Amino acid sequence: MAYSFEQFCKDANAALKADPGRGGKETIRRNLEALLKNDEFVRSACGPDAEYGTHQIYRDPDFDFVVLAHVNKDARKSPPHDHGSSWAIYGQATEYTEMSEYRRVDGSSGAGDAAIEHDKTYRLTPGVAGLYDVGAIHSIDYPANARFVRVTGTDLETVERLKFDMTRGKAEIIQSIGVN
Ligand SMILES: [Fe+2]
Repeated sequence: MAYSFEQFCKDANAALKADPGRGGKETIRRNLEALLKNDEFVRSACGPDAEYGTHQIYRDPDFDFVVLAHVNKDARKSPPHDHGSSWAIYGQATEYTEMSEYRRVDGSSGAGDAAIEHDKTYRLTPGVAGLYDVGAIHSIDYPANARFVRVTGTDLETVERLKFDMTRGKAEIIQSIGVN
């Protein structure tokens, strides 16, 4: 039987209860890959008939993590950014996402002057999920109709996050919604 969305949410809660650190999040990442094999779930959350936009499809009552379906219409490239005090797991449903990871090399952590270095770039393809832990810096680049399911440690609209401008050597607090 296909791994259900309900079971995924229950298992994610249990994983964080057992291990709120990297281990619990890695379990959620693996489970998200299992969930993405559930064609019926993928079709209903991210399929051709799903409404465009970002939809919150679960919010955990104990840990406050959220599950979002990103039903993207247009291609998009984000600047390098972090997720503040939150973590994020990206699971690809359709098309692909080019993921780039960076590290901050100026020894500080807040907004203002900031130097980051590119670490690696790779592709998330359908069924593959990547974990970006607290403090990780990444950017995403996807074509039209790339859709994904994302789990974040909390509602990102409530945390202060940074985006990076490598040319200017600056980090700025993200003001707008939608910088994934
Ligand atoms: Fe992100």
